[in-house]
Amino acid sequence: MGKKLGIGLLGLGTVGAGVASILADPNGRHPLVEEIELKRVAVRDLKRQRKVLISSSLLTTDPLAVVEDESINIVVEVMGGLEPARSLILRSIELGKSVVTANKAVIARYGEEIAKASKAAGVYVLIEAAVGGGIPIIEPIKQSLSGNKIKRISGIINGTTNYILSRMSKEGTSFNEVLKDAQSLGFAESDPAADVEGLDAADKIAILSGLAFGGSINRSEIPTQGINKLEIKDINYASQLGYELKLLAITERVQEFSSRNDSLPLATFVQPTLVPKDHPLASVSGVNNAILVEGDPIGEVMFYGPGAGAGPTASAVVADILNIAGVQPMVDLNNYLDPLLSASSWRKCHLVESKEILQKNYIRLNCKDAPGVIGQIGTVFGRNNVSIESIVQFDASQSDAEIVVITHLVSKGQIAQSLKEIEGLSSVQSITAHMGCL
Ligand SMILES: NC(=O)c1ccc[n+]([C@@H]2O[C@H](COP(=O)([O-])OP(=O)(O)OC[C@H]3O[C@@H](n4cnc5c(N)ncnc54)[C@H](OP(=O)(O)O)[C@@H]3O)[C@@H](O)[C@H]2O)c1
Repeated sequence: MGKKLGIGLLGLGTVGAGVASILADPNGRHPLVEEIELKRVAVRDLKRQRKVLISSSLLTTDPLAVVEDESINIVVEVMGGLEPARSLILRSIELGKSVVTANKAVIARYGEEIAKASKAAGVYVLIEAAVGGGIPIIEPIKQSLSGNKIKRISGIINGTTNYILSRMSKEGTSFNEVLKDAQSLGFAESDPAADVEGLDAADKIAILSGLAFGGSINRSEIPTQGINKLEIKDINYASQLGYELKLLAITERVQEFSSRNDSLPLATFVQPTLVPKDHPLASVSGVNNAILVEGDPIGEVMFYGPGAGAGPTASAVVADILNIAGVQPMVDLNNYLDPLLSASSWRKCHLVESKEILQKNYIRLNCKDAPGVIGQIGTVFGRNNVSIESIVQFDASQSDAEIVVITHLVSKGQIAQSLKEIEGLSSVQSITAHMGCL
């Protein structure tokens, strides 16, 4: 290859240190690793103890100096946050440098702006680590599955929430107790909002959706429900009914075919969902992630593995670096961009209104333990054309009863109207839980 490719690393935290470790130890890896050289590294605190041995002469607190360093060909952004990360990515592109980033927050919000800029500049922005940590999912969707019409992607794409749900299910412990423990063990952040409220999963499904369906959606419009209000009894009831409870991120086309000129309607959302115990996503436990892609003609293909952590995430980042290294001579020569490796969008997509989304539902109602209650609830559902798969009474105490309803596939609009009417029944005290169901 001749001259080594210069890498500028923005960030030397969990992921950055993992990347530096791989680059420092090329032995036994693909020979291209030896053609790559870490030139400079931006950090916030020069005195911080690092998890990787690195010459202090490489470190700087000025990330722009790294981006603008002429010896650097590829900028690796693993600092996180929206700014200055977004501006540094755009500046790198402007300078004709390809970028590798693990930053889902930036890509979910500014992916289109970044993709346009990179195309215009004739450089690559690769994002394999932004979704699913070490699981190869971005490049398989862009390249290996590109001959398919993708129908749906459903995934467990947040390791923290899957860890919490798995432990709640196994140990019968409450959300708050498991969260505290997960924080002390390093599986949850001290501020867990982005994970437990489903926001991180929403960022990731926005990215997958854009790649699978060929057009971006507005990240802020994705209906998002996390696991922070979940009660242990829903996990227990779900289990008795033959389901595991998972936080699923889903994006699916709601129209079979459409011309490329039409905007493609999509249902994209994040919500706690009952998954039948024999479904491939049901057995995904702990911090692992899994993404199920359904397409025509491939059918179903599932990607499974470690969704976070230094090693797995760095594995994805380095793969992106190597992909760029492999095509760099062509970038240098004539601005040629491989259309499958570069980000491409070919149509408009939009989210359908929430009330139009079809799904099965799990609903838990707190009712008076009186004769005829189930009949009254059934009448309301019937009036709204909601067909019921099962209706079960749990835990009848002195005066209260818990009734769990699983519906067949119905629109969210029908369910919303039914629940409004059910709330008005004198025998129903409250609607205590409402989730999706596969
Ligand atoms: N951790 C994972 O398992 C994982 C998985 C997938 C994707 N990601 C994504 O990867 C990115 C990095 O995550 P991480 O867990 O490695 O974060 P982290 O451990 O907090 O590391 C961030 C690094 O960036 C540096 N940094 C932050 N702001 C800076 C600034 N303004 N100027 C210079 N340096 C700055 C920090 O410097 P100091 O060390 O001096 O503070 C630190 O080295 C994020 O976008 C994250 O969403 C992470």
